[in-house]
Amino acid sequence: MFSFSRVAAVFAVALALSSRVYAIGKITRTGRYLYNSDGSRFFIKGVAYQEQGKYYFCAASVDPNAPFSEPSTFIDPLANGTACQRDLPYLQQLGVNTVRVYSVNSSLNHDTCMQALSGAGIYVILDLTLPVNGSIDRSDPAWTSNLLDLYIETIDTFSKYDNVLAYNVGNEVVTSPNQTVAAPFIKAAARDIRAYLNSKSSSALIGYAAIDGDATWIVPLASYLSCDPSGNNSGNTAIDIFGLNNYEFCGNSTFQTSYAGITGDYSGYNVVAYFSEYGCNNPYPRPWADVAALFGSLAAPVWSGGVAFSYFPAQSDAGQFGMVNISADGSTVTTSTDFANLQAAYGALTFVTTPPQSSAPAASYPACPAQNSTILASSTLPPTPNDAACRCLEANLDCLFNPQTSNTTSILGPLLDSACSLLGTSGGNCNSISANGQTGTYGLVASCDPSTKLSFTMSQYYEANKRSAQACSFGGNGTVNSKASTASASAVASSCLASATGTNVPTPPSSASSGAASASGSKGSGKSGAATVFVSDTRALLGVFLMVAVSVAGGFLSLA
Ligand SMILES: *[C@@H]1O[C@H](CO)[C@@H](O)[C@H](O)[C@H]1NC(C)=O
Ligand SMILES: *[C@@H]1O[C@H](CO)[C@@H](O)[C@H](O)[C@H]1NC(C)=O
Ligand SMILES: *[C@@H]1O[C@H](CO)[C@@H](O)[C@H](O)[C@H]1NC(C)=O
Ligand SMILES: *[C@@H]1O[C@H](CO)[C@@H](O)[C@H](O)[C@H]1NC(C)=O
Ligand SMILES: *[C@@H]1O[C@H](CO)[C@@H](O)[C@H](O)[C@H]1NC(C)=O
Ligand SMILES: *[C@@H]1O[C@H](CO)[C@@H](O)[C@H](O)[C@H]1NC(C)=O
Ligand SMILES: *[C@@H]1O[C@H](CO)[C@@H](O)[C@H](O)[C@H]1NC(C)=O
Ligand SMILES: *[C@@H]1O[C@H](CO)[C@@H](O)[C@H](O)[C@H]1NC(C)=O
Ligand SMILES: *[C@@H]1O[C@H](CO)[C@@H](O)[C@H](O)[C@H]1NC(C)=O
Ligand SMILES: *[C@@H]1O[C@H](CO)[C@@H](O)[C@H](O)[C@H]1NC(C)=O
Repeated sequence: MFSFSRVAAVFAVALALSSRVYAIGKITRTGRYLYNSDGSRFFIKGVAYQEQGKYYFCAASVDPNAPFSEPSTFIDPLANGTACQRDLPYLQQLGVNTVRVYSVNSSLNHDTCMQALSGAGIYVILDLTLPVNGSIDRSDPAWTSNLLDLYIETIDTFSKYDNVLAYNVGNEVVTSPNQTVAAPFIKAAARDIRAYLNSKSSSALIGYAAIDGDATWIVPLASYLSCDPSGNNSGNTAIDIFGLNNYEFCGNSTFQTSYAGITGDYSGYNVVAYFSEYGCNNPYPRPWADVAALFGSLAAPVWSGGVAFSYFPAQSDAGQFGMVNISADGSTVTTSTDFANLQAAYGALTFVTTPPQSSAPAASYPACPAQNSTILASSTLPPTPNDAACRCLEANLDCLFNPQTSNTTSILGPLLDSACSLLGTSGGNCNSISANGQTGTYGLVASCDPSTKLSFTMSQYYEANKRSAQACSFGGNGTVNSKASTASASAVASSCLASATGTNVPTPPSSASSGAASASGSKGSGKSGAATVFVSDTRALLGVFLMVAVSVAGGFLSLA
């Protein structure tokens, strides 16, 4: 909580910036609707607020069903008070009550931005993910200790603010029916983040933002994320709020033409649903006729508003978005017709008032959808990652991933592939580090961070080859651990992870972030001889690409 003097400072900031000043109320969920503290319905009248990061084009990361560019960097929009104070009057002109932010850096200070937004009555929907390696990887999904730690660090940084409406545990992780095998990991993330927020007495909601697509698999995905696998009507593993990144309504279309179908698809949904992005950009500038339809009486029984995409300019494969330009020196905001039209549309809204909280049906959590060819996700979820157990494992392994570069993300995947492949030729396998969301089978080491998984695999190969120094080289990426126990990697895994196989309240990481830290102390000293061994072996047991993660401002395909 804030001290009184800090609250006073907030109000001083807010007063200087805003004519409307009030303490922001707590938003709660009852069943499928959101409510203000006075029991009236709350609708997300939002705008996406994040400058676009730099993009790269990595062939391995391009999914044929989602051929958008993925960012490799991000600009934390809540860490620069000057920029937030520059933008706040414009957010107020738009009349938004919520901004959606896609990635933040938990080590930076967010006080000025968060307090200014709070003072202006603006909530934040915050995605916990980061580009590149800070998200569940759709091409090799797992719920791992490094991601849990990342999410926890962000929550710890933001839990002191009163205006975090929701934390998203993923954005567009699943982009095709086949990728619904990733859904158990998203659901496990929701489960563990819920337990963590509960342990901190936080009432922030837990969300997921989905790419839109064919309702035959997106709707079951939504149901899966809000279902109860235990069959006892428990919300322990459910999200609170499902976001759809929807660009269906273009120009001056109508509710009947563009929203009636999708509204019908979600008519029976059990938790909150909203558009986590919306605003078709053809024609552009946009008339924003979708606003009246999305917040109108036909949509309000199903949708709790949406987040217009985007305040800042954003270039995508689907064209240009954005409603302001920022001058090159960062000092001045220029608004466009797009901005004026959204301002007018938001300004004309009167919210639907039904049902009031007093008569809203309580939440229910149906059984999970049965597995079939469109929803492959198992109802058996992976365990809660345990950072301490993974560190115990890595400390006792006899061959450690210890690369000569700090840019480990790009080499982890290929090395894991080749280490597994080598291990296969030595009579072993990578079952212990593998997670299968379709069969619901999770290897003992599968919830450790990728670097620990790699060290574990390297150690198994090293042991299978009589602990010959060359078998721990991996082209200079491996180092023999002189402090290792004499036990085998699998024995160490059993002993360190034996008590870490269930579901529990996550604990914050003890010090430095992930298991990678313990491998990065000194530079590798191994010989490079093994390089020729694995380079020639192209058999890959795992399809591992650690490049693809989240699509910030990228996932807005207009799906017909
Ligand atoms: C977060 O900010 C710190 C301090 O500027 C920087 O060292 C670090 O690289 C940033 N982390 C990310 C993930 O951008
Ligand atoms: C989904 O998986 C099936 C079976 O493995 C495969 O035949 C199909 O091409 C895949 N579809 C996509 C869109 O990846
Ligand atoms: C419902 O299931 C959850 C998760 O398995 C469990 O924690 C809880 O104890 C169960 N509650 C009842 C009443 O059985
Ligand atoms: C949408 O309708 C408004 C109001 O009738 C009109 O001014 C505008 O030109 C129309 N825009 C498009 C793209 O048709
Ligand atoms: C903060 O934003 C202002 C305005 O865009 C810019 O001039 C300044 O360089 C930014 N500061 C940092 C540390 O990025
Ligand atoms: C922003 O800049 C782009 C590119 O220069 C331009 O096309 C657009 O009209 C500008 N928008 C505003 C609001 O000035
Ligand atoms: C799979 O199940 C979902 C409901 O859980 C259903 O909507 C979908 O049509 C089913 N797909 C097939 C191919 O039967
Ligand atoms: C991402 O990779 C970098 C090294 O390239 C590492 O420092 C960081 O901890 C990783 N982040 C996560 C969440 O694993
Ligand atoms: C990391 O390596 C990849 C692949 O070699 C490269 O594209 C990327 O630019 C590197 N990142 C950094 C920060 O050096
Ligand atoms: C480490 O592994 C990467 C990826 O397999 C490889 O390209 C590199 O040559 C290896 N050795 C060193 C010294 O980085």
